[in-house]
Amino acid sequence: MASKKKIQTYQAPKGTYDILPPDQKYWERINKIVRELAVFYGFDRIDTPIFEEAPLFSRGLGLTSEVVEKQMYVFRTRGGDELALRPEGTASIARAYLEHGMSVLPQPLKLYYSGPMFRHESPQKGRFRQFHQWGLEAIGEGDAVADAQVIQAAFHVFKELGISGFNIQVNSIGCKKCRPHFRDVLKSHYRSLLKRLCSDCKRRFKENPFRLFDCKNEPCVALRQSAPQIIEYLCEECHNHFKQILEFLDETNLPYILNPYLFRGLDYYSQTVFEFWLENEPNPGNFALGGGGRYNYLIEILGGKPTPAVGGAFGFERMIEIMKAQKVKIPEVRPKIKVFLAQLGILAKRRCLKLMEDFRRTGITVAESFGRDSIKAQLRVADRLGAEWVLILGQKEALDGSIILREMSSGAQEIIPQEKAIEAIKKRLAAKQK
Ligand code: HAM
Repeated sequence: MASKKKIQTYQAPKGTYDILPPDQKYWERINKIVRELAVFYGFDRIDTPIFEEAPLFSRGLGLTSEVVEKQMYVFRTRGGDELALRPEGTASIARAYLEHGMSVLPQPLKLYYSGPMFRHESPQKGRFRQFHQWGLEAIGEGDAVADAQVIQAAFHVFKELGISGFNIQVNSIGCKKCRPHFRDVLKSHYRSLLKRLCSDCKRRFKENPFRLFDCKNEPCVALRQSAPQIIEYLCEECHNHFKQILEFLDETNLPYILNPYLFRGLDYYSQTVFEFWLENEPNPGNFALGGGGRYNYLIEILGGKPTPAVGGAFGFERMIEIMKAQKVKIPEVRPKIKVFLAQLGILAKRRCLKLMEDFRRTGITVAESFGRDSIKAQLRVADRLGAEWVLILGQKEALDGSIILREMSSGAQEIIPQEKAIEAIKKRLAAKQK
């Protein structure tokens, strides 16, 4: 018996997925609201390449950050360049800011973006290898009002989309002056507790003790309760900066929660950090809808002058999951079909193709099912699409220059000259609007 040849099939790579037509409305909706609100708050759109020189991220985000250490897609080109698929947008935007000399423009330079990012993570709920973010960055402004405005603009994107049940976690992680001191305090606190920490935390203790706060293991979480809190160790400048942000957030009634354990995983942060968390999520820190903070040293690390900056980025996938779970209503993006073109025979089909083009120029929405030959089947499609009128061009009409105009609600039909078809529809549309 002849052996069956196995046919090779393909699937989207692990951690990636296709955005199929029924889901496109969520993407369009988020992008629309982000664009509208970003523009309102004075942010201009920027797009950067999806890959960059790899050292941009390792220097910008920090060699010990998890993203750089474990999650970057790095590859060598034939020419020998070491590139990385962007794991986030902030470093690329800081690079573009420097490359294009944007520091001479009026500051702060406020930019927004939206697009795919790449991290090699184990795929799980709300965690993908190719995922999508939108974000806001305000570069060249140290005043706390910029932090508050980024948070405020993002908050209103969520509200405008109809997402509820989330809050804003905020903390200050200090600056170059006060953070090293707190690091020492934290280390000396944990030194005597080392034996009681899990193996991951033992490593965190050595490499980056702030990450001790991220641990989800019960004994480590319990030990956290007695740990010193950075708020008490902030220098005067950081303390005042943070106080002002909270006052701005109070003023605008934003639902924030002080979280002394929030440090965020990227090394470029200083002073403010924030995350948007879901209220009913058992592990909200692992499913943050977005987050960000100040990165006053990043531009300098990348070769520029010291430049204060603040921003945040938000995950499309998690937002869409919540929109679906909360049954958020999405306004219909497809305009309602007014006219359906039905045809019988090759000549009629040709005429209908041309007629469709004429309708497009008038702005009247038309649909067709040119692949179908039975008029009955085409009328069924017209009905399903909710067309108000059907123009039927049979073999006879194609030859004698007439066309049948059928009103779907009543079934009434009349025969009119083909060249009057658009005019007739326009008249009926106008009469309906009266
Ligand atoms: P991030 O916290 O790494 O920050 O990412 C921001 C958001 O992107 C997360 O809260 C989450 O919603 C989404 N996200 C991250 N990784 C994944 C993933 N693997 N799958 C699905 N969604 C994900 C940043 O990226 C910073 N650049 C934010 C920022 C802007 N800071 C200052 N400016």
